[in-house]
Amino acid sequence: MNDGNLKQYFVGTSGGILFAVSKMIQLTKIKKTYQTSNGLLYAIDTVSVQIRAGEIFGFIGFSGAGKSTLLRCINLLEKPDSGTVLVGGENFMSLPKKELLKQRRKIGMVFQHYNLLQNATVFENVAFPLEIAKTAKVERRHRVLQCLEIVGLSEKARDYPSKLSGGQKQRVAIARAIVTNPKILLCDEPTSALDPQTTQTILQYLKLINKELGITIVLVTHEMGVVRTICDRVSVMEKGKLIETLDMSDATFSPQSELAKYLFTNGGGI
Ligand SMILES: Nc1ncnc2c1ncn2[C@@H]1O[C@H](COP(=O)(O)OP(=O)(O)O)[C@@H](O)[C@H]1O
Ligand SMILES: [Mg+2]
Repeated sequence: MNDGNLKQYFVGTSGGILFAVSKMIQLTKIKKTYQTSNGLLYAIDTVSVQIRAGEIFGFIGFSGAGKSTLLRCINLLEKPDSGTVLVGGENFMSLPKKELLKQRRKIGMVFQHYNLLQNATVFENVAFPLEIAKTAKVERRHRVLQCLEIVGLSEKARDYPSKLSGGQKQRVAIARAIVTNPKILLCDEPTSALDPQTTQTILQYLKLINKELGITIVLVTHEMGVVRTICDRVSVMEKGKLIETLDMSDATFSPQSELAKYLFTNGGGI
């Protein structure tokens, strides 16, 4: 890694106070419904949560709890029916489309199934967001090589995704997600398609990116092991509602809800 270039992305200190205490994402009274054949479905039901700059924040719950929908509400890939979405102080719900697209570049995204372009090389995949952002070619190349180095894949730049393992594909996806210098990384079940050992590797890369680059990470998972390994705080979700938020470093860690008690006492897995 190039330390000179990394410095500008560090979570800074100001007068001894870590920026990490400030709120990066503020979701307030978010509602999202879908019209289904069985009537109106509350995918997100009046959820409020604040995520601090510099933390790794998890959402955990059973399938269908609303985790992915809530994550997508942060960058407005899903537009809430009501509520407010503040990201870095910007009110995303009231931004004109062009401005929203610009703001979205500050938010990278990683998915369970990598979503790589199969007909493009590793280099081209990572370069893709910069092409869209019309970044100059020299800068583009510099950034792509830098990000491939961060995820330990410099040697694979010319390869196609089909030649890579699942873990390597996810590392390409992570490099692609951070290539535009985002402040936030949204990860939707980033390790759910991977074996336990590869899961650990990916989580360590996410941790590195969080600590070294100061990128706030919001991570959706159904795996308690993931929460235990890297999350600073976690919200437990069920049927569109946020049930409880827990601080993983709290010495008096004591889940109150039945769901959180169940999740945290059942051998760490769902
Ligand atoms: N586009 C959609 N149309 C209709 N229902 C949806 C849509 N997206 C999600 N849902 C429903 O919303 C609920 C929450 O889904 P989701 O956010 O994907 O849950 P999770 O990620 O926790 O598994 C589920 O009942 C799901 O079926
Ligand atoms: Mg999901």
